[in-house]
Amino acid sequence: MCGIVGYIGTENAKEILLNGLEKLEYRGYDSAGIALLNKEELTVVKEKGRIADLRKKVATDASGELGIGHTRWATHGKPSEENAHPHQSLSGRFVIVHNGVIENYSLLKDEYLENVPLKSDTDTEVIVQLIEKLSNEGLETKEAIRKTLKLLHGSYAICVIDQKEPNLLYAAKNKSPLLIGKGSSFNIIASDAMAALKETDQFIEIADEEMVILSRDSIQIETLDGEMIEREPFTAAIDASDIEKGTYPHYMLKEVDEQPAVMRRIIQSYQNEAGDLAVDHAVLDEVLNSDRIYIIACGTSSHAGYVGKAMIERFAKIPVEVHISSEFGYNIPLLSEKPLFMFITQSGETADSRQVLVKVKEMGYRTLTLTNVPGSTLDREADQSMYLHAGPEIAVASTKAYTAQVAVLSILAVAAGRAKGVEQAFEIDLSAELGIAATAMEAMVSSKELIEHIAGEFLATSRNAFFLGRSVDYFVAMEAALKLKEISYIQAEGFASGELKHGTIALIEDETPVFAIVTQENINWNIRGNVNEVLARGANACVFAMEGLEQPGDRLVIPHVHELLTPLVSVIPCQLLAYYAALHRDCDVDKPRNLAKSVTVE
Ligand code: F6R
Repeated sequence: MCGIVGYIGTENAKEILLNGLEKLEYRGYDSAGIALLNKEELTVVKEKGRIADLRKKVATDASGELGIGHTRWATHGKPSEENAHPHQSLSGRFVIVHNGVIENYSLLKDEYLENVPLKSDTDTEVIVQLIEKLSNEGLETKEAIRKTLKLLHGSYAICVIDQKEPNLLYAAKNKSPLLIGKGSSFNIIASDAMAALKETDQFIEIADEEMVILSRDSIQIETLDGEMIEREPFTAAIDASDIEKGTYPHYMLKEVDEQPAVMRRIIQSYQNEAGDLAVDHAVLDEVLNSDRIYIIACGTSSHAGYVGKAMIERFAKIPVEVHISSEFGYNIPLLSEKPLFMFITQSGETADSRQVLVKVKEMGYRTLTLTNVPGSTLDREADQSMYLHAGPEIAVASTKAYTAQVAVLSILAVAAGRAKGVEQAFEIDLSAELGIAATAMEAMVSSKELIEHIAGEFLATSRNAFFLGRSVDYFVAMEAALKLKEISYIQAEGFASGELKHGTIALIEDETPVFAIVTQENINWNIRGNVNEVLARGANACVFAMEGLEQPGDRLVIPHVHELLTPLVSVIPCQLLAYYAALHRDCDVDKPRNLAKSVTVE
């Protein structure tokens, strides 16, 4: 996590850095800081809290044509001004911002920095102190940085300023994202293109274990062994307007509303010349050559994975297991003979998922990534990829990426089934069904007033909540509970409703809010029985039911869609419920406490 940005050019870096950090704030927001170098005069400003707090603290006349900035999600050391980046070396000459985790920082400290008093609790400070130590021992700055990088174990994306070299900006990366934004008479370094889109749409990738030396009009990329690398820029696929909130009060609401349009974009993107939904041959081959698919994902993406399992097993008749990345990598189950590992990840940068990718590749297995971010680490490192086409998702709570994942998984499931000749895969006109789902999603995003009212009635003051479902509704219930927890801080649980009576029903008291999602005909009466059981124990129950299954007293009718595509639609009222519950409780919807969007530490 954490976001970094660096600028070298002819303009004052201050605004460019602050604007860039605002765009990176989704990566962490517990403290922030910038350093500006004006000739050899250095200004460092840090603040606990948000970029808005930092902005207030930076003097209006602060300036420098070279600068670096950071927004933090704490890993080592509590959120505080001392632990905020940039960090400086003992003399103050070298300044660093860092994203990642240095695993051997404690060893490095003991071995090389015994006599250096450290000012922070961070792993980062060790890097900058080491650079200064090696520089004091006679190495030129570039060599001191290179030698330091070779000592590091772990992940890093760094920007370094040497006060004595005001015309150069140093950067390097390993396992943490970083790219160069190329301008005319300036260059930028950033964790994400979003931070630099206002300045340029030309970007150059940086590979792991490469370092970069930028001046305002030159870009030098080298390996850690000093080999020069030539790499052409590419044009960013998103433009600055894609990442603005527009008239919306929150990114989350904008992204919820975008879901029908994303559905239509996905249909278009996967249509072949004949107008059928199709998947790249290379991807299909991977699926068809496997005897079992292992879906590896975290959080919301794993919830989409469960829906994907149901669809792939039904349409393609290939067994699928869904695993949480952070568990799988360290407790690998007995595998089938020809497994295919499918990574579902909005960001493509999630460290828990990447560690599994690295391991299974070492074991010689095939890999496929479903991601929203082309060019991300899991995209680059997997054998094959499929894209979600959801557009940038900025709110920490994932919404449109989830529905995009479900839709892309349905396309893959049906395409694989057809290629295999599975009868069920020919029975569905998926393009038409996804179109119907898009229209149903429109109806759901238009039900805001009703959902806001329900959120007020059930969740304004409650301390916990339950979401019940069976089969695919259970998967949506898990997602609904996660959404509610993460942005409204209400303790919530998504439950297979039949399981409730095996213990958890003991938690039901007077007024406990219980939401039931009912979209599957075959379990309609079972789940209604479970709702009656909680009502009998005093719960406040609220049923969202699909058209055709509704009963008097249900609070929302979900338009009818294909039985396996219901999560695309039923999840939307749950997303809105979380959104309005968070507003009722005065929570920061887009930046919930303790979280960050892109989870790049294990
Ligand atoms: C919840 C949420 C997270 C992510 C999880 C995986 O709203 O956003 O649970 O789904 O951190 O992230 P990705 O999909 O980027 O790998």
